[in-house]
Amino acid sequence: MPLKKAVTVKEASGKLGILMPGMGAVATTFIAGVLAIRKGIGTPIGSLTQLGHIRIGKRTDGVSPAIKDYVSLTNLDDIVFGGWDIFPDNAYQAAIRAGVLDEHKHLAPLRDQLEAIKPMTAVFEQAFVKKLNGPNVKKGTSKMHLAEQLMEDITNFKATNNCDRLVAVWCGSTEVYRKPTEVHSSLAKFEDALRASHDDIAPSQIYAYACLKLGVPYANGAPNLSVDTPALLELARKQQLPIAGKDFKTGQTLMKTILAPGFKARLLGLDGWYSTNILGNRDGEVLDDPESFKSKEVSKLGVIDHILQPDLYPELYGNISHVVRINYYPPRGDNKEGWDNIDIFGWLGYPMQIKVNFLCRDSILAAPIVLDLALFMDFAHRAGMSGIQEWLSFYWKSPMTPEGLYPEHDLFIQLMKLKNTLRYTKGDELITHLGAEYYD
Ligand SMILES: NC(=O)c1ccc[n+]([C@@H]2O[C@H](COP(=O)([O-])OP(=O)(O)OC[C@H]3O[C@@H](n4cnc5c(N)ncnc54)[C@H](O)[C@@H]3O)[C@@H](O)[C@H]2O)c1
Repeated sequence: MPLKKAVTVKEASGKLGILMPGMGAVATTFIAGVLAIRKGIGTPIGSLTQLGHIRIGKRTDGVSPAIKDYVSLTNLDDIVFGGWDIFPDNAYQAAIRAGVLDEHKHLAPLRDQLEAIKPMTAVFEQAFVKKLNGPNVKKGTSKMHLAEQLMEDITNFKATNNCDRLVAVWCGSTEVYRKPTEVHSSLAKFEDALRASHDDIAPSQIYAYACLKLGVPYANGAPNLSVDTPALLELARKQQLPIAGKDFKTGQTLMKTILAPGFKARLLGLDGWYSTNILGNRDGEVLDDPESFKSKEVSKLGVIDHILQPDLYPELYGNISHVVRINYYPPRGDNKEGWDNIDIFGWLGYPMQIKVNFLCRDSILAAPIVLDLALFMDFAHRAGMSGIQEWLSFYWKSPMTPEGLYPEHDLFIQLMKLKNTLRYTKGDELITHLGAEYYD
């Protein structure tokens, strides 16, 4: 039985341009991946929009369409890629440099298409990413002037590529840790600060501002603030645009949000969780700077507390030692190795240990997230959903939430929320898993 009248969603017709500030390992693995899938030399593993199904109605109804058939999502053939980077390498060169995808199997067959994707000149300030410096950077008389140049880029990109719609996903380096200040407290103050080139305004915020001004939904794949400020939320609301962030949930944090809900479900206690990583890509190099690492650390540390709710369960989770380390180790490249030592305790307090050794591939885990976010953000826009898209918390290490709400980190609750949001847009009954009708 339908729950309510379905939300009106405009059809995904025409081309969708996906704009990425930052065209490094994640962005090029995503782009090359989509091109490979289109060409039939790859499968979109890890992507809910491409491989996921959604149950509609009762378990006995046997109706579980593919998500991409259930709601109107852009077809992969209708995607156009663009972006900015401080290095002028085209997407082929950047993908070779990143060393994630196999050159012969996956990059050579796509070489022409990848070489045609060239980054636009970036907005960059080294104070925010200390370890990098590149030549492909805009000059401007003020930060507002830089924002205006980005808006010109966006307008030109849309026209040149004949795009019907655009979305932006920040795939740039992690900027140094900063808290919002007075200049981020309202849109008017933020715009004054742009004109005054205020030190507190980071490049990622200039991109977010330019995108939102031009009606482009914006998602933030890094842990730094970017769009997560009252000023830019105000702009998003004014423009009726969806925004989302922060920090793609990929390796170690994904494992945490899978395991921690399990411990809590069985009321097993936790004394400590020690996580360490070795990583040798450019992201690892950037995170070798303590100030950029601080952004990542804050994003990674929040997860356990929110899942375990120590205020409700002080005897189980009231005194946890949670430590996170990332060490830059060049030989590993993008193939990160993460170790977790988890000290848990059970009945009468007897201690146990769990060790997790995850030999993962960072960008292989991140690429399908970029795809899903771009498609769902575009869907949200066409469905008239604006402001923070909490239903996309599934994809984030540190989900943005409206003021006063704690973030939901439990991966399984996040997935339920995402699927129920899709059912809601169609006017279908939400699935609560009560199921009383099967045995009453
Ligand atoms: N790979 C993962 O699993 C993962 C998970 C969560 C978050 N992230 C985040 O995603 C981002 C991208 O990761 P990556 O592995 O692709 O890193 P990367 O270093 O390979 O790519 C980042 C790119 O951003 C560019 N850049 C930096 N500042 C810029 C600016 N102001 N404008 C335009 N370009 C800029 C750099 O030149 C670089 O090419 C990082 O912030 C990372 O922390 C990655």
